[in-house]
Amino acid sequence: MSTVTFESATRHYPGSDKAAVNALDLHIADGEVLVLVGPSGCGKSTSLRMLAGLEDVTEGRILIGDRDVTDVASKDRDIAMVFQNYALYPHMTVADNMGFALKIAKVPAKERRERVEEAARILDLTEYLDRKPKALSGGQRQRVAMGRAIVRSPQVFLMDEPLSNLDAKLRVQTRTQIAALTRRLGVTTVYVTHDQVEAMTMGDRVAVLKDGLLQQVATPRELYDRPVNVFVAGFIGSPAMNLLELPTTEHGVQFGDTDHPIARDVLAAIAGDTVVVGVRPEDLERAPDGEGLAVDIDVVEELGADAYVYGHTWIAGARHDITARVDGRRPPAAGSRVHVRPRLGHVHVFDAATGERLDDGIRDVADAEVPVTAIDATA
Ligand SMILES: Nc1ncnc2c1ncn2[C@@H]1O[C@H](COP(=O)(O)OP(=O)(O)O)[C@@H](O)[C@H]1O
Ligand SMILES: [Mg+2]
Repeated sequence: MSTVTFESATRHYPGSDKAAVNALDLHIADGEVLVLVGPSGCGKSTSLRMLAGLEDVTEGRILIGDRDVTDVASKDRDIAMVFQNYALYPHMTVADNMGFALKIAKVPAKERRERVEEAARILDLTEYLDRKPKALSGGQRQRVAMGRAIVRSPQVFLMDEPLSNLDAKLRVQTRTQIAALTRRLGVTTVYVTHDQVEAMTMGDRVAVLKDGLLQQVATPRELYDRPVNVFVAGFIGSPAMNLLELPTTEHGVQFGDTDHPIARDVLAAIAGDTVVVGVRPEDLERAPDGEGLAVDIDVVEELGADAYVYGHTWIAGARHDITARVDGRRPPAAGSRVHVRPRLGHVHVFDAATGERLDDGIRDVADAEVPVTAIDATA
C-alpha cells in the first residue's frame, strides 16, 4: 500500500499539437479510491497509463510512495491493472488465470494456490475455480480479472473502465462489489470512468478532467455542492444542473418574474451585467403564477416517489431547456405550464465570461440555518 503523486505530469503524444494530459498535479492518499472522470478523450487513460509505466511522461514526475517511478519499468512498479477488456486466457481455468502472474514471478505452487484460493473466497469465485472463462457470466469473468490483480497484492490497483462491457444492472452490482472490495483490502486505487454516477458512488475523491486539464478534485459531496466551474457543474449530477445566463439586478438576478437575491460580495464580484446561474433540478420549487420562470412541460418522467419534468422556457428571446424535480404523486401534465423558482440559497453563481464559480456554494443546514443569500441581500 502506498500513496501516489502526479507532479505536473504531462504527456505530449508525438505529432499532436497539444498535450493529452497537461501538468497534472494529484496526490492520492494511502488506501484511497481516487476516481478519474471526464468525457471521452479528456486524458483519463493516458494519466493511468503514465502511472502504470505504459506511456512516457513528457514532463513532470510520478511517485509511488516516496519513490520516483517516472523512469521505472512497468513491471517494477508494483501495480496491478484491470482493463475494460479483461482478456482472460480462454484455455486456462479460472484458478490458472488468476495465478498466472504469480507463476511467471516463480512463486512456489503451494503459495500460489493459497493466494488464489484466498482471492477466490473474497470474490465469491471458489466454486468456479476449475471452470474455463467461457462457462462464466460477464460479471464472473470481470471478478476473475479482479482476482488476477488481487493475488499479486500490489501497492496500487489501476482500473480503466473495468465495467464498460457489462450490462446496466450488472454494472451497478459489480461497482458496489468493487467499492466494498477495494475498501476492505485497503489498497490505493485509481479508477477511471467516463460515467459520473459511477465516479460519485465509488470514489473517496473524484478528479474531473477536461481536455487534458484537471478541473477539480474533491469528495463527491463537495463536487456536487461546490463545483468550481460551469463544466464541473454541468458534468456532475444526473439529471444535469440547469445553467442559465441571467441579467443581474440590484440585489441579485432576474429569474423570470422573480428577483432572486444573491450575496452582496458575490454581486460585487460580477464583471458584466449577466451571470450564469446554476440550479439543480431538486432545488427548483413550484412558484405561483406570475413568479419565477414559466416552463412549458415537454416530458414527464415518473419515478414513483419523485418525478422529473423536462420543459423549456424563454429568456431574452432564447429558448432554454429546464429540468425540475417535482412531487411524484402530483406531477404536472406534459403540455401544461408551470412556474418554478430556486429554493432560497440553492443557486450556484458563475462568471458569464470565464465560467468560474463566484459564490461559495450550497452549505449544509448545519453551516447556515438561514440561507446566506437571504441575509446579505436584505442587509
Ligand atoms: N497513442 C496515442 N497517440 C496519439 N494520441 C493519442 C494516443 N492515445 C491517446 N491519444 C489522444 O490523447 C487524448 C487523450 O486520450 P485518452 O487518454 O485515451 O482519453 P480518455 O481515456 O479520457 O478517453 C485524446 O485526444 C486521444 O486522441
Ligand atoms: Mg480511456
